[in-house]
Amino acid sequence: MRKKVIAGNWKMNKLVGEAEQFVEDVKESVPSSEKVESVVVAPFTHLHALVEKAKGTDLKIGAQNMHAEESGAFTGEVSPEMLKDIGVEYVVLGHSERRELFGETDESVNQKVHAAFKHNLVPIVCVGESDEQRENNQAETIVEDQVKKALKDLTNEQVQDVIIAYEPIWAIGTGKTATAEDANAMCTHIRNVVKAFAGDEAAQAVRIQYGGSVKPANVDEMLGQSDIDGALVGGASLKTDSFLALVEAGT
Ligand code: G3P
Repeated sequence: MRKKVIAGNWKMNKLVGEAEQFVEDVKESVPSSEKVESVVVAPFTHLHALVEKAKGTDLKIGAQNMHAEESGAFTGEVSPEMLKDIGVEYVVLGHSERRELFGETDESVNQKVHAAFKHNLVPIVCVGESDEQRENNQAETIVEDQVKKALKDLTNEQVQDVIIAYEPIWAIGTGKTATAEDANAMCTHIRNVVKAFAGDEAAQAVRIQYGGSVKPANVDEMLGQSDIDGALVGGASLKTDSFLALVEAGT
């Protein structure tokens, strides 16, 4: 059985003091990491403090992006080694906001996925179609293409350890959730795509999250689907009570 992974992507929200208070408030209440992986994905400036606060608990900390290179003349960037150095364990890569607003491409996402493995960070790789692409019946092709390009040249063993987050762009922050059936259909499609290039073992092991207006009221239905192994949650992860309800749903 695949262990569920619930990650709260805070995006560009909270000041460091607020973030520390959040972790302080939830860290003893998150379920055992043997049952569910609970992750807070915070801005770079908060990561060190949050890792320190969460130490020895079941709460894990992730970054929202990173650069693929190890060091050098890349003003404004943060390397995988820097994240690892402070105890970050997960990194979200290729979020649609990074693709749309900051020029992230399938190729750069792929480089970052390789860099994540090199430094023992768990990559949470985001894929998903736009409203227009769905209207034009291109959703499956677009997502398939993103998955293949993002995971290109990984070993089958590495593919098993990737977390893929299916986030239809039209469902992000809009309150419009995909139906559980539609979300699951896409996650099944993703698993079949993985099977075709990395084999059945990798396909059965890889975890696929759904993201897009997930909240305590709809998380159970999502997590009850055959191919949905967790959630990547924006807005509803910002409050301690709803974050705890979400991670509890993963047990
Ligand atoms: O990465 C999470 C995300 O993009 C979904 O955001 O606010 O719709 O849960 P939200």
